[in-house]
Amino acid sequence: MKRYGEHRFPGKLFIVEGVDGSGKSTQLNLLYQWLQSEGYGVVFSEWNSSPLVRRVTKRGKKRQMLTPSTFSLIHATDFADRTEHSIIPLLKAGAVVLCDRYIYTAFARDVARGMDPKWVRELYSFAVKPTVAFYFRVPLDVAVKRLHASRKGFKYYEAGMDLDLSEDPDESFKLFQGRIVEEYEKMIPEFDLTVVDATLPIEEQQIQMRPVVKNRLAQAKRLRVAP
Ligand SMILES: Nc1ncnc2c1ncn2[C@@H]1O[C@H](COP(=O)(O)OP(=O)(O)O)[C@@H](O)[C@H]1O
Ligand SMILES: [Mg+2]
Repeated sequence: MKRYGEHRFPGKLFIVEGVDGSGKSTQLNLLYQWLQSEGYGVVFSEWNSSPLVRRVTKRGKKRQMLTPSTFSLIHATDFADRTEHSIIPLLKAGAVVLCDRYIYTAFARDVARGMDPKWVRELYSFAVKPTVAFYFRVPLDVAVKRLHASRKGFKYYEAGMDLDLSEDPDESFKLFQGRIVEEYEKMIPEFDLTVVDATLPIEEQQIQMRPVVKNRLAQAKRLRVAP
């Protein structure tokens, strides 16, 4: 597949990253509603949603058969399919595309599972660079508290139980997510991630995000009218 890098499509790509419970989906949903009310053609493109690998991933997870490298390759296949069939066509059509998790999730997760950082980055070199990548920074105990309040327990892979870090899912989740946070922190300067203080109230975070997004959309409009 062609290496795209900085895209020249008329659309814009805004993505959110951060650990589970950092508030990504909450903020992206608010952004979606706001952009819609402002009259933009806005669409979601979800992580891990391609029909190509959905069944095999589900089966592999259920039977706990996924090794770190198969996990990595399955996600990369899924993402390649989504890039080609969803993200790029939408950007070509001039849409504002919102992604809940992006390649940085793979970089953080796969490296936390012991894969080589360079190898994982190469694997995703076909990806489109986001217009803005928001990173929701939150202490792990805050994220865990939010997750406990909103659901029952952690799933096997989500808690990194395949890594044998701890027998206790809660403890394993914290150790695994701790590694993930370390990887995210390294990626802030590497990929110019826009950090949001995810401990702030929901409204406050949204107030900070909107001008960042608006600014990039205004730039796009100006570019289109230029001779
Ligand atoms: N700023 C916040 N303060 C307190 N609770 C929050 C905040 N943002 C989100 N939440 C709550 O935390 C939980 C996880 O939020 P969610 O947006 O689903 O996180 P993520 O998508 O990152 O896993 C939800 O119950 C949500 O209502
Ligand atoms: Mg979410």
